Amino acid sequence: MSLEIVGLKKSFGTKVVLNKISFGLKKGEILFILGRSGTGKSVLLKNIVGLLKPDDGQIILDEKEISKLSEKEYFPIRKRCGMVFQQPALFDSLTIYENLAFGMRKHFPKLSEQEYRARAEKYLQMVHLENVEEKLPQQLSFGMQKRASLARTIAIEPEYLLYDEPTTGLDPVTTTAINQLIQQLSRQLNVTSVVVSHDMKCALDIADRIIVLSEGAIVAEGTPSQLKTSEVPLVKEFLKEVLEGGSQ
Ligand SMILES: Nc1ncnc2c1ncn2[C@@H]1O[C@H](COP(=O)(O)OP(=O)(O)OP(=O)(O)O)[C@@H](O)[C@H]1O
Ligand SMILES: [Mg+2]
Repeated sequence: MSLEIVGLKKSFGTKVVLNKISFGLKKGEILFILGRSGTGKSVLLKNIVGLLKPDDGQIILDEKEISKLSEKEYFPIRKRCGMVFQQPALFDSLTIYENLAFGMRKHFPKLSEQEYRARAEKYLQMVHLENVEEKLPQQLSFGMQKRASLARTIAIEPEYLLYDEPTTGLDPVTTTAINQLIQQLSRQLNVTSVVVSHDMKCALDIADRIIVLSEGAIVAEGTPSQLKTSEVPLVKEFLKEVLEGGSQ
């Protein structure tokens, strides 16, 4: 099992957002992708899960190029590569339980209603949500919706989890809980994780490897301890913000 991004290029009009990005993922690792707002982090994740198509380059899953597949061919890949969106993308008119069950019914059609219920409860507990099954998304706070959205993705039990700013907008206690969950999924279930963030502190705490993006290119890459001694100006800025206690 492997995922490889090779020479990925994506522009909108004349604006080049990603300019030949290449990196690979090791099984079970937690890779953080850091970058300032607007550097193309969300665009990168959307290209990996097929919501955007690259202009050039390849996305290779288990030695197979997947970026040119049709929507239908992408279906099994969405089960394997789950994405947690930056904005909680819940269906407004469905209860939290139905939101979770929706994905499970699609990807595990043979389970019983009782099993969907049990799984929903298990994954909601993992994100520290209780007694929300019968609530509608708008009855929950932003942070709770974000966690419900995370639970919906992990309930599909993907091999790869792509998190788009999973802790932005959450309080420090919940942030720690989500970071622990990312680690737990990686260590216990061998899930391979890509976490997009601008929070260097979270990256130093839980990443196995960090990539820093700027102006469409990778400007630094390494383990947390390697990045701590980096001379790259943007990395130094991020590190300074950690010392000052800021995350933005
Ligand atoms: N569908 C789109 N059409 C046109 N331009 C887009 C589209 N999606 C993203 N962009 C542009 O691509 C650039 C990168 O956007 P992206 O959302 O990936 O940034 P980001 O790194 O995720 O930022 P943030 O940290 O604020 O979430 C931005 O200039 C944005 O305006
Ligand atoms: Mg983004």
